[in-house]
Amino acid sequence: NKKIKIGLLGSGTVGTGVIKVLLENVHEITQKIGREVAITKVLVRDLNKKRKIPSTCTIIDDFEEIINDDSIDIVVEVMGGENPAKEYMLRALEAGKHVVTANKDVVAKYGKLMFEAAEKHKVDFMFEASVGGGIPIITPLKQCLTANKILEVMGIVNGTTNYMLTKMTNEKLDYHTVLTEAQAKGYAESDPIADVGGLDAARKIAILSSIAFNTRVHLDDVYVEGITAITPEDIEYARELGYVIKLLAIAKDVPAYGIDVRVHPALVPNTHPLASVNDVFNAIFVKGNAVGETMFYGRGAGEGPTASAVVADIIDISRNIVHKTSGKISCTCFEDKMICPVEK
Ligand code: NDP
Ligand code: HSE
Repeated sequence: NKKIKIGLLGSGTVGTGVIKVLLENVHEITQKIGREVAITKVLVRDLNKKRKIPSTCTIIDDFEEIINDDSIDIVVEVMGGENPAKEYMLRALEAGKHVVTANKDVVAKYGKLMFEAAEKHKVDFMFEASVGGGIPIITPLKQCLTANKILEVMGIVNGTTNYMLTKMTNEKLDYHTVLTEAQAKGYAESDPIADVGGLDAARKIAILSSIAFNTRVHLDDVYVEGITAITPEDIEYARELGYVIKLLAIAKDVPAYGIDVRVHPALVPNTHPLASVNDVFNAIFVKGNAVGETMFYGRGAGEGPTASAVVADIIDISRNIVHKTSGKISCTCFEDKMICPVEK
């Protein structure tokens, strides 16, 4: 009954959370899988940084030590950025290792490439944490709601900007103070312009709409406008009129037109459920022709919530390893179909 071994790429906010959840819940997780799961190697950039990593893990700064280690079954990528994360994940899949990632940059841009490699090498590629932090949304869309023709996916998918807008509205704090707070809490991307400029939300809605509409929605198909131009005056005028400003991501199937995908700040009436989604929380509405409207709500970023989603993928993959069912679910959602052009 040998252990399932993990090579962890990155030990920042999310990586630290993954280590903690796997340690704290070791008994429950082992029971659920029927075998123990252990991180054996952790890849970082700076070997001299102080970290809380168990002595059973070897800290390394060379990916070759993971790719050439035949005992490693699953590579968990939580280092972020496009490169070298994309290359490392691709090499891992090609080497017959399963991959879990929280990386929306890579999934939004190279999801198709990853799925093809996973299918070819009969391994699993999973990315629940790439959208909505701890909120289950990828798996529900891929599985639980798959009977539906999806009509719309809409909501708040960026924790940093929702945290910022909440603090700017409720506590009248200034933009730079609240951005610094969001960074200190580990919510923001390493380059926070991706959050405030709307690109992070655009990546997430591209991923969600690709799955929801079973077609490949490219980043270029998404109209993107962030919150950088929102002023305290805008927030105050909105308040006087009975609205709050939220950064929304919206994807709609418009009959005879195609799929319309956009990210922009919007006036949300105080009476709408999204108006009370505050702080780092995200909320995503999915409307299907059979199920009607569903809403997914929870913490959209941060160490614990994101680790919850990453470890869930690790458990799913481990069960597949134990039951010899790996690489069985192929994904058709990254094939090109009809998307409507982005208005400039
Ligand atoms: P951090 O910046 O906190 O951590 C990144 C980690 O990766 C660090 O340990 C860093 O090493 C390591 N790393 C980065 N580049 C390299 C490299 N080239 N070689 C080796 N190691 C490297 O990022 P987060 O944990 O916040 O985010 C990780 C991923 O998870 C990103 O894709 C992000 O978008 C995604 N994500 C993050 C969420 C969050 O709430 N933070 C939520 C959902 C997804 P070192 O420590 O030495 O600097
Ligand atoms: N920077 C992202 C956010 C992390 O704030 O939502 C979670 O994907």
